[in-house]
Amino acid sequence: MRYFIGNWKMFGVPKSRNILNKINKFNTKDKNRNKYKVIITPPYTLIESYAKYFKNKKIVVGSQNCYQKDQFSSNTAAISPYMIRSIGAKYTLVGHSDNRAEGDTDLMLKDKVKYALKNKLKVVFCIGENKLEKKNKKTLSVLKKQMTKVLEKNFNKNNIIVAYEPIWSIGTGKIPTGSDLKKTTVYIKKVLKDIFNKKSPAVLYGGSVDGNNVEIFREIEEIDGFLIGGASKSSKKFIDIIKNYYR
Ligand code: PGA
Repeated sequence: MRYFIGNWKMFGVPKSRNILNKINKFNTKDKNRNKYKVIITPPYTLIESYAKYFKNKKIVVGSQNCYQKDQFSSNTAAISPYMIRSIGAKYTLVGHSDNRAEGDTDLMLKDKVKYALKNKLKVVFCIGENKLEKKNKKTLSVLKKQMTKVLEKNFNKNNIIVAYEPIWSIGTGKIPTGSDLKKTTVYIKKVLKDIFNKKSPAVLYGGSVDGNNVEIFREIEEIDGFLIGGASKSSKKFIDIIKNYYR
């Protein structure tokens, strides 16, 4: 199974659903539709209405984040995994570099994963090195630490997906070379196999993915799909990624 996950970030109002209707229409007719899943993570404000609308359609709705507590608490503006699940989300991102930059620590991320899983949300756990770490050849050690500090062998690996997103690649148009990315993805899966008793969860790539460069990524069979930011706000760009991946 491949995954095409669109991360809308701070984008979207109710009528933006038109974008998803077009993607859904494409998906319904696509001869490759059984080979992949389309998941969209709109902002919190749209999860409930979109999840209802797409319930029996081809698009699955997820959340971009969740608070590191189970159900209810006194944290102003916080939204828990329980609350997200109760309005129809099936997935949540955890550990996006935007949120790590805003203060999410490994300890907080561990609780987010734990309570998301407890509330039957599948977790897309994001990892990635920054520009300086890459320059200093610290990529693999940074990724290993990000995974081993948060993921535990008693978490159900079938409900976890790992998204590798180099921070220097997000929204910049810069992407890793094919050989670097192959090496990094194989390494990530090795670390995950060590954590999860010989079987790795799916591993996605994210960072400036578009309809042109997806051809480079599809050569790397270890990559199980993509986390797509900018290009997921346009139905045409998002559909082009899927089309060109299977061309
Ligand atoms: P991008 O964002 O595709 O715009 O680079 C990816 C992400 O942040 O998930």
